[in-house]
Amino acid sequence: MSKTIRIAIDGPAGAGKSTIAKYLSKKLGFVYIDTGAMYRATGLFMVRKKIALENENEVVASMDGVGIVLRHDGADGTQQIFLNGEDVSKQIRTEEVGKAASVISAYPQVRAKLTAQQQKLASEESVVMDGRDIGTVVLPEAELKIFLTASARARARRRFLELREKGVAAELSEIERDMEERDKRDSERSAAPLKQAEDAILLDSSDLTIDEVVERIEGLLQEKGLLAEKAAEA
Ligand code: DC
Repeated sequence: MSKTIRIAIDGPAGAGKSTIAKYLSKKLGFVYIDTGAMYRATGLFMVRKKIALENENEVVASMDGVGIVLRHDGADGTQQIFLNGEDVSKQIRTEEVGKAASVISAYPQVRAKLTAQQQKLASEESVVMDGRDIGTVVLPEAELKIFLTASARARARRRFLELREKGVAAELSEIERDMEERDKRDSERSAAPLKQAEDAILLDSSDLTIDEVVERIEGLLQEKGLLAEKAAEA
């Protein structure tokens, strides 16, 4: 039986996790799992149902109505996310939904449901999974753990350019402030906070290109003999 390989990428908002994870999974032929998208879809559900996000009991009580399915396109490494049968891949990318995701992701019962789903997905295939608690909670036995970070300024600038490309008007200083607020909430919550796992490798992407970050990760995989293993199987 072939051994599956799990790569965990954690870090704050805007560090480049999803870009790197997508690129890497495509290159390695692994499945990309964007766990933030699952929290965002859950946040979108709560926003649409007009559930008071600060009310933990109400949020938890409505979790039974949340059905999330990830669909992967093997050819180009893209992922679509479905909320109760509806493709919400685009709708989850707003700042409002990002904030909602950050608020409801602090609730242990919300996390328990999504964590179980993420662990099941990773038990089936080789994955690159990104999020906040992948190396610490979801996949503590991952073969490679990366903690990807960048300066607050670099992260805000990336998000700003991303939004501008989509034609969304935004203020750099406002993005930086929102990001800091979100990182603070994600790091200070008691349930599975954003933190570097002890055995994770820290990569600062502030002054690195995507290719350079991917190259470093591939170098780490090689050092651990994981690429060779994959090649031997093929
Ligand atoms: O990575 P992102 O911006 O799409 O994530 C949205 C929010 O979801 C983020 O602010 C915190 C939460 N999240 C989490 O708590 N745990 C994860 N594994 C992934 C995301």
